[in-house]
Amino acid sequence: PIDPEFTEHREVVDEHEGHDVWGPVEEPETLGIHGTHVAVDFDICIADGACLEDCPVDVFEWVDSPGHPESEIKADPTHEGQCIDCMLCVDVCPVDAIDVDAG
Ligand code: SF4
Ligand code: F3S
Ligand code: ZN
Repeated sequence: PIDPEFTEHREVVDEHEGHDVWGPVEEPETLGIHGTHVAVDFDICIADGACLEDCPVDVFEWVDSPGHPESEIKADPTHEGQCIDCMLCVDVCPVDAIDVDAG
């Protein structure tokens, strides 16, 4: 599962669509964590899609990740600023790739 303390254990190495990317990143196999309030560990995401389907405010969008060992698309928290902290995405992700800091 995603490390809930990732902001303490990782560094911001990039920015993507207005959100931070927490490294390490070594494309295409290692993509890091996208987002901070709504964080998706791209190296864990298997493109299940439940988060996109269930988020009531459409925080997520698909992005391509060709060559990644787990999946060739990822759920990107493009609109993390819209999150209402319902925690549905955290509950439905089958591989626990998502952390929402509702604190
Ligand atoms: Fe969407 Fe709720 Fe997840 Fe926020 S916590 S990203 S509102 S499903
Ligand atoms: Fe990925 Fe989990 Fe969403 S596997 S697509 S973050 S439900
Ligand atoms: Zn992103």
